Amino acid sequence: MRAAVVDTVPGEPRVRDVDVDEPGIGEVRVRTVASGVCHSDLHALHGHGVVFPTPFVLGHEPAGIVEAVGPGVKNVGVGDAVVACLSVYCGHCANCLTGKSYRCFTDDYARAPEAPPRLCAAGDAVHQFVGLGSFAETMLVSQHNLVAVDPAVPLSRACLLGCGVLTGVGAALNTAQVTAGSTVAVVGCGGVGLSVIQGARLAYARRILAVDLDDAKLDLARRCGATDVVNARTDDAVAAVQALVPGGVDFAFEAIGAPATVQQALAMTGFGGVMTVVGIVDHAAEFAFTGADLLMGKTIKQSLMGSNRFAADIPALVEHALAGRLDLDVMVSAEQSLDDLPAVLDQLEAGQVLGRAVITF
Ligand SMILES: NC(=O)c1ccc[n+]([C@@H]2O[C@H](COP(=O)([O-])OP(=O)(O)OC[C@H]3O[C@@H](n4cnc5c(N)ncnc54)[C@H](O)[C@@H]3O)[C@@H](O)[C@H]2O)c1
Ligand SMILES: [Zn+2]
Ligand SMILES: [Zn+2]
Repeated sequence: MRAAVVDTVPGEPRVRDVDVDEPGIGEVRVRTVASGVCHSDLHALHGHGVVFPTPFVLGHEPAGIVEAVGPGVKNVGVGDAVVACLSVYCGHCANCLTGKSYRCFTDDYARAPEAPPRLCAAGDAVHQFVGLGSFAETMLVSQHNLVAVDPAVPLSRACLLGCGVLTGVGAALNTAQVTAGSTVAVVGCGGVGLSVIQGARLAYARRILAVDLDDAKLDLARRCGATDVVNARTDDAVAAVQALVPGGVDFAFEAIGAPATVQQALAMTGFGGVMTVVGIVDHAAEFAFTGADLLMGKTIKQSLMGSNRFAADIPALVEHALAGRLDLDVMVSAEQSLDDLPAVLDQLEAGQVLGRAVITF
């Protein structure tokens, strides 16, 4: 099968032939139908905040059709439409048992070191980025990376539920727990930020302020539910948000991954407010907070994959989409082929992708 393989970090993915093993115990082979391109794929290429052993197949936001299942697979069957998520769960570690399966810390689902690798090229093992490696015609993953979905949602849209939408909506609903009637600011309106906006709309936030550098992205943010927009290229983002909601918002989100915008999101947060960082920030980054921030009783949170229980959350998001409460169509700007991936990554890096670009197979 053909896959986009990264050999060095920093580096570029190159499409080449990769061999896929038969599914082992608890494993599932999936024919990839579509995979969204997330900014975390770029972080992995640059080694920013996300460090991964090479060579690996890039990509982590897929949907597809189950082709074959290994012994012991119970949750999906051949022919099922599935969405895959990197938040693989073992079901028995302390985090899984206390409802935080998105922080599962065992590696039960990985193959034993002495076993043949799932993927190899020219006889050498090829890793899968975060256990998925979805810029590939075929994926071999754990059953606990997968959930079956209603095929009524096209897989070129459902794939977004594997990362960007799960993360963004989950950051609003699960991590920050945006309340009805509250005020919200979202800094960064890419695929993840737009999903936070849609999550805030699902939670019946009263005001949703979108902040980005690009007017086209801000227009898209309005279509996702933003009530007000701020262009941070032409305006002071913090002052503009404070002018729109005097005293600051109840819930602020950072969906870029830059220290300066994390700092801005904290400054936009009002009395008793919650600031949630969704962007992946460099591990060595440092931040400042003041005595006034403390006195105002602000809370700082980080949202890992939207604090998901994806096997329950993704089918629920599908129902929201089918009922018209969650708009996946508006998020997808382009469908392109695997050979277009390097160009799409360059566009994402340059800030030229509106919403999400999706690679289809
Ligand atoms: N926490 C998680 O589990 C998780 C999951 C998925 C993605 N992420 C991270 O979320 C972040 C966003 O991902 P994405 O795919 O939406 O990226 P993206 O590149 O599609 O979107 C980023 C947006 O931020 C805007 N932006 C850049 N600088 C800005 C500034 N100074 N002020 C205002 N807006 C600015 C850009 O115009 C763009 O619209 C990335 O860091 C990604 O790695 C985190
Ligand atoms: Zn992602
Ligand atoms: Zn676990």
